[in-house]
Amino acid sequence: DAPLRDLAAARGVYLGTAVTGGKLTGGYADTAATQFDSITPGNEMKWDAVESVRGQFDWAGADRVVAFAEAHAQKVRGHTLVWHSQLPSWVNNGTWTADTLRTVMTDHVTTEVSRYKGRVDHWDVVNEPLNEDGTLRRSVFGATLGESYIADAFRAARAADPAAKLYVNDYSTDAIGAKSDGMYDLVKRLLAQGVPIDGVGFQAHLILGQVPASMEANLRRFADLGVDVAVTELDIRMTLPATAEKLDRQKSDYAAVMRACLAVTRCAGVTVWGFTDSDSWIPDFFPGEGAATLYDEGLNPKPAYAGVAGTLAPT
Ligand code: G3I
Repeated sequence: DAPLRDLAAARGVYLGTAVTGGKLTGGYADTAATQFDSITPGNEMKWDAVESVRGQFDWAGADRVVAFAEAHAQKVRGHTLVWHSQLPSWVNNGTWTADTLRTVMTDHVTTEVSRYKGRVDHWDVVNEPLNEDGTLRRSVFGATLGESYIADAFRAARAADPAAKLYVNDYSTDAIGAKSDGMYDLVKRLLAQGVPIDGVGFQAHLILGQVPASMEANLRRFADLGVDVAVTELDIRMTLPATAEKLDRQKSDYAAVMRACLAVTRCAGVTVWGFTDSDSWIPDFFPGEGAATLYDEGLNPKPAYAGVAGTLAPT
């Protein structure tokens, strides 16, 4: 059977996966390389991973993932430059003036984007900037700088690598609702200000049986603003144990998300947040839940794999 990456390419989208750099050997590496044409480092490009001490950068983890992608002709989705989580305490707990924090932030963005200039296709420049009600999250950045930090982060990223596609990315924005309305208004404001934003990422950490009916319409309204859209962290979790019935439902849920992307011309692609249940954040964060990915713990494709393949297959 044709690998997912070939099926996706024939439909004009990419199919990506998040990976754990330290696991990129053996069957895990083979599957990541064979099936996907975009790679997101799951943790290796985050602020705490690359700059745990101010001005001291450690690129080892990120370099390894980028080298893997290049060896297998895969795009790289850089994740992520400015985020309130996995943020070193020197940033999060610092006492900042607005000017100093802005400089710290733009220095970080400039240094990381420059390091991978020409090698990262998409950057999640700003991650999870919004509260559930669609207002600006009072992270250290939001609280100290207000919304202007977002524009400044994008400008620094564009200056450092004009070719990279720059995204804002968030969760629980997959359906039309208060949070995605907040994102929609934010993107509109940024565009009106001439901020160099190319796309909006929808994480899509979904629950079995709850793919939003409005997902396609939601992606389309953002695309109609003149930006690309992408599903950036797809997984569909269930209460364990997984049964044949639940896995079959998961198959149709994955297919529904793929169809939503394919239906929107400006949907660039879909990334799954880990491709095997042995490498998923779900069991750690939601005890009793799991089985959220395309492959089981033994790297055998699940029904969801066929759901994605079948949706991507030529019609
Ligand atoms: O690096 C330490 C290691 O030294 C230590 O031994 C180990 C012990 O638990 O922890 C390791 O850190 C873990 C890290 O992943 C790297 O494996 C953290 O505890 C763990 O909390 C962290 O989880 C990550 C999570 O983001 C944290 O926010 C997940 O792997 C990662 O998949 C997840 O990804 C996020 C996206 O970036 C943004 N959107 C939501 C998504 C899911 O939470």
